[in-house]
Amino acid sequence: MIEKLFDIKIGYASPKNPIAVASMAGITDSKFATGFANAGLIILGGYNLDKPTNEAARKEVDRGRSEFISDKPLEFLKSELVAAKGYTTIAVNVRAASIEPLLEAAALAKEHGAILELNAHCRQPEMVELGAGEALLKDIPRLCEYIREIKKTGVVFSVKIRANVVNDVELAKAIERAGADIIHIDAMHPQGVDIGVIKRVRNSTNLFIIGNNSITDFESAKEMFSHGADMVSVARAVRKNPRIIDQLVFEVTSFQSMTGWYNAPKHICGGGDLRALAFCCLPVKPCALHGALKQAGISAEEFMKIKTDFARNTPIEYGEGTCFGSMTWCCKITKPCFLRDSALESSGLSDVEYMRTKKRLSEYILKHAKIRL
Ligand SMILES: Cc1cc2nc3c(=O)[nH]c(=O)nc-3n(C[C@H](O)[C@H](O)[C@H](O)COP(=O)(O)O)c2cc1C
Ligand code: SF4
Ligand code: SF4
Repeated sequence: MIEKLFDIKIGYASPKNPIAVASMAGITDSKFATGFANAGLIILGGYNLDKPTNEAARKEVDRGRSEFISDKPLEFLKSELVAAKGYTTIAVNVRAASIEPLLEAAALAKEHGAILELNAHCRQPEMVELGAGEALLKDIPRLCEYIREIKKTGVVFSVKIRANVVNDVELAKAIERAGADIIHIDAMHPQGVDIGVIKRVRNSTNLFIIGNNSITDFESAKEMFSHGADMVSVARAVRKNPRIIDQLVFEVTSFQSMTGWYNAPKHICGGGDLRALAFCCLPVKPCALHGALKQAGISAEEFMKIKTDFARNTPIEYGEGTCFGSMTWCCKITKPCFLRDSALESSGLSDVEYMRTKKRLSEYILKHAKIRL
């Protein structure tokens, strides 16, 4: 039932909800995963796929870090995929000093119905020296070459990045153009979480976004969702409080059941991403809408036509008594408004159906935007 509630699909992967366990080297293996079968996604690893990265990992262990080390890395990866099969949707986070082991890992992941995640995030000097981890962010042509080759295997493919290392929008666009399915963003910033990076990537790509960093409760998860994340992932907090995954799954499930759009954006004037144009008023006053329309490459007249065309013959066309005479221009369901609620009641439209229609409207608007790719 929960599967249908969320309807998340990324190629052959269908996570049952948008809550993920993020990888922690030396910790998140198939055994660790047994405790988190309620998660929509468990990202195992990071696994070192070749001799150079395993040797680098040994040096890291010598200075106190945890790592998964193996003399037969691809056999180890295979045994992990076999052991974790059936828990929930599985991804494997991997590092290598060259492309060949990544291609073998991709084939294995696909064979086991798992997602492959390339670690372009690790900043341990031993890995970076090998050209692995974060070194890939600083060599976008090589990163894109890896993505293109890996995607030829047919695997569902994620790229894990750390924000604020390079220009995130340019990076995300390059990752999308090269053919990756998912961008997993550690929204790390020297001053805390950079929620703006999620919004910037949402506004410039159609990639499936996993938002990550400092998620400790549903409030922090909602910040990521309402700025454009399709899924959120949790690492350190899982170790402090292993029940956090169950709690987040429970809360996001309740929220989705009540509202029908778990990652609905904040209103544009509240800092939301461009999907929030679905909640905007008629463009008749000076407000943040005009900046958003400019960014989307849509004139005010086109905006009125796009929304009106979509709403024709749908239940949101009506809305006697609302600010603009049609629910096409009405706010999010979580914004209390008795005018809209009475229009919903007269039309026999539930809150969930209203929000689902608004979600389709946002997709329709963005199809007409000229900023895309
Ligand atoms: C001990 C530890 C090991 C980690 N190992 C990996 C790894 O192998 N691959 C990876 O992509 N990220 C790794 N990470 C980063 C986490 O997946 C996550 O991006 C980061 O901790 C921020 O999320 P959080 O605030 O939920 O912990 C590691 C983090 C920790 C704390
Ligand atoms: S049109 Fe309305 S919802 Fe949109 S930014 Fe302006 S005031 Fe906010
Ligand atoms: S009627 Fe209520 S929901 Fe609709 S635009 Fe006005 S304030 Fe927003």
